[in-house]
Amino acid sequence: MCGIFAHLNFGELKERNSVDVCMEGLRQLEYRGYDSAGIAGIKDGQICSIKSVGKVSTLDEAVKPQQLQFRLAIAHTRWATHGRACEANAHPQFDQDHRLALVHNGIIENYAKIKQTLVKKGVTFSSETDTETIAQLFAHHYKENLLKAAVNTFSELDGAFSVALIHKDHPDQIVVSSRDAPLVIGINDQTNEIFVSSDTNAFTGQSLRVLFLKKDEIALLSPDGIELYNKKGKALDITFEELCVEECQTATGEFDHYMLKEIYDQPLVLKEIIHSQSDETNHSALFEQLVLTPKQIKNVDQILIVACGSSLHAGYLAANMIETAARIPTRAEIASEFRYSDPIITKNTLVIAISQSGETADTLAACELAIDRGAHLVAICNVKHSTLVRMAPSTILLNAGPEISVCSTKAFTSQVCVLQLLTLYLARIRTFGASEGREFLRKCEAIPHLAQEVLKRAGSIASLAEKYARFTKFFYLGRQQMYPTCLEAALKLKEITYLQASGLPAGEMKHGAIALIDESLATIALCGNHVTNDKLFSNLMEIKARGGPILAFAPDGSESLQQVADDVLYLPIGESDEQNIYIYSIATQLFAYYVAKNLGTNIDQPRNLAKSVTVE
Ligand code: AGP
Ligand code: GLU
Repeated sequence: MCGIFAHLNFGELKERNSVDVCMEGLRQLEYRGYDSAGIAGIKDGQICSIKSVGKVSTLDEAVKPQQLQFRLAIAHTRWATHGRACEANAHPQFDQDHRLALVHNGIIENYAKIKQTLVKKGVTFSSETDTETIAQLFAHHYKENLLKAAVNTFSELDGAFSVALIHKDHPDQIVVSSRDAPLVIGINDQTNEIFVSSDTNAFTGQSLRVLFLKKDEIALLSPDGIELYNKKGKALDITFEELCVEECQTATGEFDHYMLKEIYDQPLVLKEIIHSQSDETNHSALFEQLVLTPKQIKNVDQILIVACGSSLHAGYLAANMIETAARIPTRAEIASEFRYSDPIITKNTLVIAISQSGETADTLAACELAIDRGAHLVAICNVKHSTLVRMAPSTILLNAGPEISVCSTKAFTSQVCVLQLLTLYLARIRTFGASEGREFLRKCEAIPHLAQEVLKRAGSIASLAEKYARFTKFFYLGRQQMYPTCLEAALKLKEITYLQASGLPAGEMKHGAIALIDESLATIALCGNHVTNDKLFSNLMEIKARGGPILAFAPDGSESLQQVADDVLYLPIGESDEQNIYIYSIATQLFAYYVAKNLGTNIDQPRNLAKSVTVE
């Protein structure tokens, strides 16, 4: 999940310092990991590098006083997989003689075996990383020819990787390669610069000719341009794409954190989604990017949704909505499990992949499996130039704006909203008449206002969060559509407070989890399912009888809950189960935020996490 960035000047124009360019690139990629960061270039014929533990800003502080000037450089921001977050394990990694420096994203699965062989040959390792193995192996194979060494090295590696490497004997060149981990090369013909990045986010505001490296391709970058080779070292023709990545506004504004800003973005983002995708004339929704005919939709015999984390929770909610309204058998699958399963996929299977970033390795692998088996893939994604969007024949962009906080908020509700509109679109073709469509749409249109109303309750939520921040264990209980809402609420709390939290279907409590109830575990009940609220009340009584404290999130007017709950947070009344998803999700996002604020954790960049999970 690391971020790789590299830069090289060519041509005769006034050159920019690669150190400055790489530091800016790393800032844009920091969402991919922030355990450590590092940069290397070549100075006076020697590899020169600086590494530091923690954020890119810490590296920046270390780099500035050195006043380094490089014509080319490679840089890295790390999310540790192999080895602690310490300077020795930070990238770049080197060979034992410091002749080369290498940055890596991914995991080398056979690193232990290669390392053992090299150690036997007398090679000395100085880190715990799998990455160092690539550097040492490259040095081992190197006989004055970078390409040959690259071909021999990469062919011995198992696993997924993208790498950038410099060698002191070739001070004008950068070697890059990738296998199942994204890497994009960009050329700016105006400024005579070549950039390499893990993703196009680092190209914001630029118009470039770009090349997305395909599996096992190797590229040599030099002032003469780009040479592209296949894994055997055979030269390949290059076809560039034109890319212009728009500048996006990414400031926190009046808010203390991106997470809070993104929570408050929701009413507007949801309004824009509903406004731009409603089809008032046909009482349906508009999905112009969907390359499926109504006939094909009529023939769909099952829908499989693949995703991870919050996106998976949106998938669970969507599966319920689609089955209920459009009567198409639909299942949401954990992408990391799906990729190793043997799914039944017919030619009429529709696979929907949900991913905010479009770079999640498990989701991409699940999509590859689905495509291989002949499914039509629809991508729901927030990032226009992402790997997922490039691989899917049909794409629905969320247009939620950049989500910077690692903890997803507005992307989650936007996914649910887009999927709710997709439900309407499918239902209008399969099951709904015009009046059902009109009614469904009317309820969708009320969502932004309800979201706004929840935000008005932020004060009460903050007070309750202060009281409940003393607990270390939480259950979120709900039924029907409130169950995935509970999973999402628990994930929010876990991610940013580091407290133990589980989302549970309330009816399952008595089958085991109730054993954990005592006065130290707080139960948060999401009472947003009209049909089962009475049953939930009984489940809460069972908890109260065992001394468990209870906080209920419930619709205005549910005063009777005070008989069982220690505290009740009153929320706007949702007219439908779907509307309640947004109401309770936004309320629980705020709750998690304020608990984290009380605990003083790093809300936007919580420990051990990264925004985009590009390793298995
Ligand atoms: C959400 O708060 C998480 N940070 C995480 O679970 C995330 O949803 C997951 O990693 C999937 O990411 P994606 O949507 O970019 O694929
Ligand atoms: N496996 C490498 C490391 O631990 C790279 C990790 C990654 O890409 O997240 O340093």
